[in-house]
Amino acid sequence: MFRRILLLSLLAFLPLTATAALDPGAPTVLITGANRGIGLELARQYAALGWNVIATTRRPPDDPGLAELRAIQEKHPRLVIERIDVTKTEMIRAVAEKYRDQPIDVLINNAAAVEDTFAADMEEANTPFDRIDFDDARTDFDVNTLGPMRMAQAFLPHIERSKQKKIANITSLAGSFGQPLPGAIAMNYSASKAALNKYSVLLSIALKERGILVGLFQPVFVASKKDMKNMQNASPVDVEVAKLIKHIEQMSPETSGKIVNFQTGRIDPF
Ligand SMILES: NC(=O)c1ccc[n+]([C@@H]2O[C@H](COP(=O)([O-])OP(=O)(O)OC[C@H]3O[C@@H](n4cnc5c(N)ncnc54)[C@H](OP(=O)(O)O)[C@@H]3O)[C@@H](O)[C@H]2O)c1
Repeated sequence: MFRRILLLSLLAFLPLTATAALDPGAPTVLITGANRGIGLELARQYAALGWNVIATTRRPPDDPGLAELRAIQEKHPRLVIERIDVTKTEMIRAVAEKYRDQPIDVLINNAAAVEDTFAADMEEANTPFDRIDFDDARTDFDVNTLGPMRMAQAFLPHIERSKQKKIANITSLAGSFGQPLPGAIAMNYSASKAALNKYSVLLSIALKERGILVGLFQPVFVASKKDMKNMQNASPVDVEVAKLIKHIEQMSPETSGKIVNFQTGRIDPF
């Protein structure tokens, strides 16, 4: 009996410990794929701006790939790291439950099924149609399309309870019909981003009456990987992420459900 009471009291205390590091007076952002690239830079810049940052990664806590994120956390104790693989509904829901009393102002669906070097991405992108693997396609749709929708569904109560009420989905020119990338490349990735665009438009309509804004943000060519640093056309990740944060700040009912190009700030065609 005593052990049961002890367990119940510990469970009741869990949400408090989950949010102990977070400042109730500061806005809160949750980022997926925060261990590298654009997601890592988003975590770094939001933390420096004084936000509470729930930085999520699919990697386990002892993974060496979390070193840079941990280094940011050492300087910014309001940054917490949580494990979320966006293809795993139960894992997502467990984190949502852990933070059930925490308003989340901005949910950034940044994670995507991409490689950790540009060269590997290109090899994948150049796979000719007759060698495309449709099991890989399933992974692209699972991460890039359904991942953001799972996240939006699980964290909707937290977003609805916040002041800013924003969902920012990171898409790609690759998914565009009106301004597609040249050539028939990256079919699976492109189709999954096009589907994310459609889902996001429908979500923006579905959530309009609840005051929640759903934005699509499109990087152009951001040096998010180590082998892109010296590429002439690739824009530095810190510069582009600073622009993205401004665009998210300026989200409005007029831009909800539209694609904002985060290099130019203009609305891009679907
Ligand atoms: N860089 C560009 O120029 C560019 C252009 C167009 C669009 N984008 C979009 O911008 C976003 C960020 O891209 P990036 O260049 O920063 O990519 P990146 O550096 O390769 O990072 C991708 C992130 O997604 C994570 N991820 C992959 N599968 C996941 C899963 N199942 N669950 C949770 N996280 C997962 C990765 O984790 P691991 O480290 O564990 O793999 C990594 O943290 C993506 O949505 C991408 O499509 C980027």
